[in-house]
Amino acid sequence: MNYKGIIFDLDGVIVFTDKYHYQAWKTVADEMGIYFDEQINHRLRGVSRMDSLDIILERYEGAPLSQEEKNVIAEKKNNIYRELLQTMSPADVTDEVRDTLKELRNRGIKISLGSSSKNAKFILEKVELIDLFDAISDGTNITRSKPDPEVFLKGAEFLGLNPEDCVVVEDADAGIEAAVAGGMHPAGIGEARDYVKTEFKLDTFSDLLKIFE
Ligand code: BG6
Ligand code: MG
Repeated sequence: MNYKGIIFDLDGVIVFTDKYHYQAWKTVADEMGIYFDEQINHRLRGVSRMDSLDIILERYEGAPLSQEEKNVIAEKKNNIYRELLQTMSPADVTDEVRDTLKELRNRGIKISLGSSSKNAKFILEKVELIDLFDAISDGTNITRSKPDPEVFLKGAEFLGLNPEDCVVVEDADAGIEAAVAGGMHPAGIGEARDYVKTEFKLDTFSDLLKIFE
């Protein structure tokens, strides 16, 4: 099968910002007296900012919050998160990831991002990868979180490709589900490598080159 495009999840695939999300949410949760730990943080992978807040608020025992109050909390978290992202640099991306992206381009494969984050562009700029992407589909152009396929379908559309001509690279089961729901071919890395619906199992990032030989 000759695939024409590849759509990458960002967090956990290209960069590792989980720790920054955790620190930022932890600060906010502590201030509000809400219990929050790494396990709850794990549930936030691939989930939009506002949906993440709803998960955190499952442990909130205060009076119900208005939408406006929730927006203020989410913005506060994002400001702390953005501050932490400032420390990111090209050194936060491995040579293997950078070289594989370049080689995929050399082979004529179109590359898009498919991330739920509204900070995706900012992150790709900080790590100096933005020029290797033909398209960016991120939290700014979607209304539904993974496992809904919207972010990947938009990625394929931005590349001018049909979903079935695209491979999606994901580290989260919800992302693999999203790829399948969108009619794309999921490659799983990390935790998603052994997910039941993963089509291509990646032991390491450069294994992607085997799919595009
Ligand atoms: C995803 C992360 O990439 O982006 C989630 O895995 C995060 O944990 C989501 O909640 C939204 O991120 P942002 O940057 O728009 O707050
Ligand atoms: Mg991920």
